[in-house]
Amino acid sequence: MSRPKGPVVAIDGTAGTGKSSVGRAAAQRLGMSFLSTGGLYRALAYTVFSKGVNPSDETAVLRTAQNIRFTFERQDDATLKMFVDGVYLGDKLNLDEVAQTASKVSTNAAARAVLTEQMRRVAKDGGVILEGRDIGTVVFPDAETKIYLDASAAVRAERRVKQLLAQGVAADYASILSSIQRRDERDSTRAASPLKPAPDAVKIDTSAMNMEQVIEAVVKEISKHAA
Ligand code: DC
Repeated sequence: MSRPKGPVVAIDGTAGTGKSSVGRAAAQRLGMSFLSTGGLYRALAYTVFSKGVNPSDETAVLRTAQNIRFTFERQDDATLKMFVDGVYLGDKLNLDEVAQTASKVSTNAAARAVLTEQMRRVAKDGGVILEGRDIGTVVFPDAETKIYLDASAAVRAERRVKQLLAQGVAADYASILSSIQRRDERDSTRAASPLKPAPDAVKIDTSAMNMEQVIEAVVKEISKHAA
């Protein structure tokens, strides 16, 4: 193995396939760390938002990205906890405005390059599973294992409906399905880092699998390359 702490694993796939839960669970079982790279885009968005920077001002967004100091600390559940200029932002990163702004700033190619460098820095020694759309294509094209999780839009919509009902939230299958289809379309056709599997990614169709089966399949794939 070429990295001192083990392999680098890239997990990507369509929305609603449980990428984060699967990545975290696989990292726990294998004694690796897990990083959801959307967090860095959310952190940039939060900082842009809180400093009153115009998210469409490419130069100002780039400068903001360059000035953020990211640090990470591995937690017992394998997650790499992210600190932004020394501060843990927690649930603030899940705010809807933050997600919307993250989607905007993530189209800024120069800012992407800055965040890409941060991801490489934290995972360069290996032993890390990174979840995010361009990990296997751009951030770590030399990742030892690349996994692409997919499921039919209908199955993902069903899962979302169940999840919402379990939280006591009313859910309309038809509108959830159409929102998933719109998001797929937007994600796969955008110019900067569109959602598409790396040519050498192992594709796992999770439509007929439960979470445990997906975790097992991912652990097995990673172990193959780490042997
Ligand atoms: O996965 P998420 O919802 O936390 O991601 C937040 C935003 O960042 C979302 O618009 C996708 C984008 N993103 C990206 O462009 N590249 C990544 N590697 C990870 C996330």
